[in-house]
Amino acid sequence: MTNALTLAEALHDLPQLPTERLLLRRLTLEDAADVFAYASDPGVTATLNWETHLSIDDTLEFIGSMLDLYRDDRGAVWAIQLLATGTVIGTIGYNRLDQGGYVGEVGYALARPHWRQGLMTEALRAVLDYGFRHMGLRRIEATCRIDNIGSYRVMEKCGMTLDGVLRDARYVKGRLESIRLYSLLRRDYERAYRSDHRRRLRGASGADDSSDAVAEDTAGGR
Ligand SMILES: CC(C)(COP(=O)(O)OP(=O)(O)OC[C@H]1O[C@@H](n2cnc3c(N)ncnc32)[C@H](O)[C@@H]1OP(=O)(O)O)[C@@H](O)C(=O)NCCC(=O)NCCS
Repeated sequence: MTNALTLAEALHDLPQLPTERLLLRRLTLEDAADVFAYASDPGVTATLNWETHLSIDDTLEFIGSMLDLYRDDRGAVWAIQLLATGTVIGTIGYNRLDQGGYVGEVGYALARPHWRQGLMTEALRAVLDYGFRHMGLRRIEATCRIDNIGSYRVMEKCGMTLDGVLRDARYVKGRLESIRLYSLLRRDYERAYRSDHRRRLRGASGADDSSDAVAEDTAGGR
């Protein structure tokens, strides 16, 4: 039994994910100017495997490919909209969903003026939660260039752990790069979620209740 059905439903109904300072939502063509503002910044794209956008047409093509994914229920990519201004300042989502639909790889990018304010950590927490609780994922991976400290600190702050360094594993923009591979398993996420939930409840009333925890495993083999 694969995770195909659960995944298809979660992608079909891809919801908005509100966080304290952000709204994660589907991209639209109206976001093109905001997306171009950071996608055309070589300081943002240097560590990414896609090219710097040179004109708004590149951005429209990129958003068009996301709209195709939404239409075919194949993609879980969210625009990161800053609640305070309404501006789209980045994207985050699952670039790859495979292994029977149980494994997803997450990727993200943020406009430079918004770096180091904890925003991507906030966004990734919401996307991991959706991946485990609604998409049926068992393992969520992320990779980054070996020296991309901002990216792997985000992963670590969200509870992901280093599986290892893959030497010269990726050919990007004319050179081979070594990458860090991080992951988080649903069973570890669930454990952390439950203990955090209990801690909060103990703080509030001394009672315990884990009814809100990640849905029980139904396919076995964890
Ligand atoms: C990587 C990136 C997403 C980080 O987003 P962010 O919102 O700035 O990250 P956060 O503010 O949530 O930071 C999380 C942690 O990383 C640290 N950090 C972030 N950027 C850092 C940097 N350039 N150098 C050192 N530490 C950094 C933060 O200080 C924080 O740690 P702390 O709480 O212990 O201080 C953003 O820099 C970016 O979009 N870069 C370009 C695209 C990219 O590299 N994407 C990832 C590809 S794998």
